[in-house]
Formats: sequence, structure tokens, C-alpha cells
Amino acid sequence: MIVITGASKGIGKYLFNSFLNNSSESVIGTYLNTKPETNLENYVHLDVCNWDQVNKFVSDKKDAFSNITLINCAGISYTSYTHKSDPEAWKKVIETNLFGTYNLIRALLPIMRDQKYGRVINFASVVAVKPTPGISAYAASKSALWGMAKSLAIENASLNITINNINLGYSELGMISTVPDQYKQKIIAEIPAGILCEPGDILKTVEYLRDTRYITGASLDVSGGLV
Ligand SMILES: NC(=O)c1ccc[n+]([C@@H]2O[C@H](COP(=O)([O-])OP(=O)(O)OC[C@H]3O[C@@H](n4cnc5c(N)ncnc54)[C@H](OP(=O)(O)O)[C@@H]3O)[C@@H](O)[C@H]2O)c1
Repeated sequence: MIVITGASKGIGKYLFNSFLNNSSESVIGTYLNTKPETNLENYVHLDVCNWDQVNKFVSDKKDAFSNITLINCAGISYTSYTHKSDPEAWKKVIETNLFGTYNLIRALLPIMRDQKYGRVINFASVVAVKPTPGISAYAASKSALWGMAKSLAIENASLNITINNINLGYSELGMISTVPDQYKQKIIAEIPAGILCEPGDILKTVEYLRDTRYITGASLDVSGGLV
């Protein structure tokens, strides 16, 4: 079974549709504010920040879960110079991108461990190491995933459970749609490959990490050379 958080928009929605249309495995996607117009039966309404909701989602479906791949796509960003930032908005980024990822992993890991199989793929970002002004919360939340994956990897490697991050650069999908065109052109000019990440490259990376037992605790740059 493939569980994709943040499957109502952007990258998560693209992966959800790709697996639903091309894989024989069951797929469950989550949404929060964007109610999906199609395949609603494959979706669950879930706030990843809310442990009780996450725990109930997993308990309710406990018997249905097998050979789990968890793809944590749910994420938010908040742009503000830190000295002017709203502490609540800053905290919400950490709650969503870090605690939300932890919550899903925490709820599903016991099942993965019982079944001696699991794949966890988190969406991190190159901004964890590429100094970028105005996104201190986002950068903090994404770099935290690197350390978390290392620790989780050694806790679970002997049980054929892998935990990895994709450090995405800038994708054609998702959050980029909120970036003003002028700034977008500036971003593209900085990318050595000269293009935004095509969706197929994200899918191939996810498939590779699902197929490979021996990569765990890794944070893989998928960034067209941008660091
Ligand atoms: N796009 C890029 O270039 C890029 C680059 C690097 C990393 N990433 C990472 O890749 C992931 C996907 O990004 P994207 O660009 O596809 O984002 P997006 O289009 O903004 O979609 C974000 C998704 O997260 C969900 N979400 C947000 N808060 C949530 C919460 N509390 N509980 C449950 N779901 C929640 C949204 O659901 P609703 O709309 O239903 O509320 C939506 O489905 C994110 O983690 C992002 O940080 C993206």
C-alpha cells in the first residue's frame, strides 16, 4: 500500500495519480483544505499536525496496511525575514513539515516493523544547505528531516525498512506556482541544468528509493545541480 500525504495538490497529487493509474498497489492520499474532485474514495481528510487524527487514521485502517510505502509530501512554507516574522506562522511550518512527517512515521512504523517491510520517503529541500533569505522556518524544518532520517535508519534497517529524503531543488509542480514570474526566472537562471525539475524525475527517484533496500538514512539531491 502506498500512503501519500499532501496528495491534493502539486507533487503529492502527481504521485498519487501516477501510482493510482499505473500500479497494482492500493493507494491512499490525504488532503486537508483542497477537497479532491476525483477518486475521493482513495482519499482521507487528515491534518498531519494532529496526532490524534493521524493515530485514528492508522488504527481505523490497520488491517488494510501491508507492504507500506509512506510518501510524506504534505508541507507548507512561510516567507518572512525572521526579525519581522510571526512566531505562530513560523511554528506552524515546523509543526507541519517536521511534526507532521514524524506523526505519520510514528503511527505507521509499528506496522512496518511487525511486517518487516517499509519504505519512507520524505520531501526535503536543497534550501536545507543553500542559504536562502526569508525562509528560516522552512529551511529549519527540512534540514531537521536529514537528522531524523539518519536516526530512524539505524533503528529500522535490520527490518527491511528504509527512510530517505529527496532534497528537491525547484519543481515544475506545486509551490512554484506562488512565486512571481520574475523571481521564477531568476531561480531557473541559477539552476545548472537550466530547467525546473520535471515531474517524471521525481517519480523515478521515488520508484528507485522504493526498489532499493540498501539506501537508507540518505538525503538525495534532485536539484539539477543546484546546491
Ligand atoms: N515544489 C517544489 O519545488 C518543492 C521543492 C522542494 C521541496 N518541496 C517539498 O515537496 C512537498 C510537496 O510540495 P508541493 O510544491 O507539491 O506543495 P503544494 O502544492 O503547496 O501542496 C502541499 C500539500 O500539502 C498539504 N498540506 C499542507 N498542510 C497540511 C496539513 N497540516 N495536513 C495535511 N496536509 C497538509 C496540502 O493539502 P491541502 O491543499 O489539502 O490543504 C497540499 O496537498 C513539500 O513538502 C515541499 O516542501 C517542494
